[in-house]
Amino acid sequence: MMSIAITGAGGNLGRLIIKQLLKALPPHEIIACVRHPEAAQDLADQGIAVRLCDYDRSDTLQAAFSGISRLLLISSPHPDDSIRLRQHAHVIEAAKQASVGHLLYTSFAFAENGACPLVHLHLATEHAIMAAGLPYTMLRSGLYTDIAGAFDLSAALASGELRVPPGDWRFNSVSRRDLAAAIAAVLADADRYRNQRLELTAPQTWRMADLAAALTGLSGNPITVVTDAAVNNWVFGFLQLIDTASTSDDLERLLSRPPETLLESIRPFVRINPPLL
Ligand SMILES: NC(=O)c1ccc[n+]([C@@H]2O[C@H](COP(=O)([O-])OP(=O)(O)OC[C@H]3O[C@@H](n4cnc5c(N)ncnc54)[C@H](OP(=O)(O)O)[C@@H]3O)[C@@H](O)[C@H]2O)c1
Repeated sequence: MMSIAITGAGGNLGRLIIKQLLKALPPHEIIACVRHPEAAQDLADQGIAVRLCDYDRSDTLQAAFSGISRLLLISSPHPDDSIRLRQHAHVIEAAKQASVGHLLYTSFAFAENGACPLVHLHLATEHAIMAAGLPYTMLRSGLYTDIAGAFDLSAALASGELRVPPGDWRFNSVSRRDLAAAIAAVLADADRYRNQRLELTAPQTWRMADLAAALTGLSGNPITVVTDAAVNNWVFGFLQLIDTASTSDDLERLLSRPPETLLESIRPFVRINPPLL
């Protein structure tokens, strides 16, 4: 029997992947590996096996991965990349010991074009997976479209001006929903993607003018981009250290449809004040 295990299964992406997988597979073929099983009762109630899996506790990992055909390692959210790397190494070692059939990893798109701890973490994890000798698939995701939320959208909505520093800002970002659907498609048919690296980005980039247009569409008020060298926002320094401009068709091919529009992707986290009565 096929058994697909997902780490970080109680998180945002993990839950969305499970929701997608349930459209294609019976629940008894899915195993949710979580740090707090008591918080995953809703998954257990759907017939999904819930196993304890803490990246910091190797003793939990081998038991969690026992008898697994396909294991999806969702990268740790720990803010310290050296700790994340250690956590990932624990998972990879346990997967090897448990003779997992296929290890899939949520890496970062076009990581080799970047230069910062985040991309080094993902590249190092990919190397560790390949060195472990297990069949693998690298699911290299673009930035989540949540990145738009770092651009002070509430100020833009209030003033009608989306202020950004000079630069050729372009984004290959993805929504978690699209990413989850694409990853679920790979998990359900993983042999086809054995030892491949997939670049799960938008097929075309969006620019700040597109973000302003999406904000205009959501709010009903005109919002324009204003270039302002005085903008002091850490996120633009970070963005210069990663490749957010390269694109691939891999995501769209896996979805068999175009990805969500920018407007739909940002709708959940853009707070529009109700009109004054
Ligand atoms: N590409 C991007 O722009 C981007 C942006 C944000 C994050 N990410 C990466 O994508 C991953 C998935 O995103 P997400 O939105 O699903 O994040 P999320 O909602 O924070 O989920 C992360 C999951 O990891 C679990 N976790 C944390 N520490 C753990 C540990 N020591 N052992 C086992 N599980 C642990 C959490 O469990 P608890 O509920 O117990 O804490 C949670 O279920 C993140 O973890 C991060 O690495 C990428």
